[in-house]
Amino acid sequence: MSVARPSSSAKLALLTSGGDCAGLNAVIRAVVIHATHNYGWEVIGIQEGTHGLLFDPPHIQKLDPGKLDFELFRKGGTILGTTNKGDPFSLDTPTGKKDCSKEMIARLKALGCGMLIGVGGDGSMSILKRLADLGGIRLVGIPKTIDNDVGATEISIGFSTAVDIATEALDRLQPTAASHNRVMVLEVMGRDAGHIALHAGVAGGADVILIPEIPYDIKKVAAHINGIRKRGRNFALIIVSEAVPTKEGRKIGKVFAGGQKRLGGIGDYIGEQIAEMCQAEVRVTVLGHVQRGGPPNATDRTLATAMGVHAVDLLAKGAGDRMVCWINRQVESVKLGDAIATYRAIEQSDSMITAARALGVCFGN
Ligand code: F6P
Repeated sequence: MSVARPSSSAKLALLTSGGDCAGLNAVIRAVVIHATHNYGWEVIGIQEGTHGLLFDPPHIQKLDPGKLDFELFRKGGTILGTTNKGDPFSLDTPTGKKDCSKEMIARLKALGCGMLIGVGGDGSMSILKRLADLGGIRLVGIPKTIDNDVGATEISIGFSTAVDIATEALDRLQPTAASHNRVMVLEVMGRDAGHIALHAGVAGGADVILIPEIPYDIKKVAAHINGIRKRGRNFALIIVSEAVPTKEGRKIGKVFAGGQKRLGGIGDYIGEQIAEMCQAEVRVTVLGHVQRGGPPNATDRTLATAMGVHAVDLLAKGAGDRMVCWINRQVESVKLGDAIATYRAIEQSDSMITAARALGVCFGN
């Protein structure tokens, strides 16, 4: 079957969706430069994910490579804005839920865009696929999330920088812990998976790593801390993923306006028990959104650049319904549906778990 390749006057829509992370601006830069200079397309940025398409006229930004900030790839956040709220197929409105998908597709088509690059996590990717399927729009997804839990790719944009930030936090907590004979607990993000805690825990020399993929027993954590103290070390570092549950299996969090549930607080829960069980002075740091902002590191810049270029090349070949991924040191792509259908939690056989255990790190089990 022959595929229709876009003409040089084609228009490409580009959006970032879901929680922001470091590296999004580097993707935007790569897509805009490659699509414009090498294929002659016009790139239209949709503002705030699909949200920009809810307005008439739509909230858009023409992305001209000549007018892009030269420093863009170094900068955190996303110049297009993003949102991790609302599903266009069932959007909260003052008069109840509304399906806005058809008007969004119509606006995209009225802009002359038959191609879309969506940079997002698994949730955004599913929504974009439904929209694209419905509207006959050729979609290529680019995976980004500090949580690194998108299936079918070894790494997502934003993860590496988040790990650097969490590692630096442990580096900074260690001397103050040692100076005050304290146990420091660092709570990091990861809504469902513990990738940030595992990688930063290994890189930052945590004594205990708690992740949702490994059920823990607080008595074992306390015994490990007591062992360290008995052997003469006066401080200890614990890193815990926000998705780790309490003893009863409850995830701690908060409900924000509009009913949005967000995790946070397991660090305090663990800290209080360790203080009591080990008779130790404990302090808790919740790293929060610091992990998402700030300039992307070199890995996220290179990943974003390679993925952005590959996404444009796929569309240029007439492809669609694909997600760009990083496999075996290469940019590849998979069927979008296959990527969405898989989820990337930490496997028990993960080499980082093996390495950490070999060095005596406690996972609480
Ligand atoms: O999915 C990315 C993420 O940063 C999670 O790690 C975290 O649980 C969530 O988003 C926080 O969302 P918000 O920015 O809405 O507080």
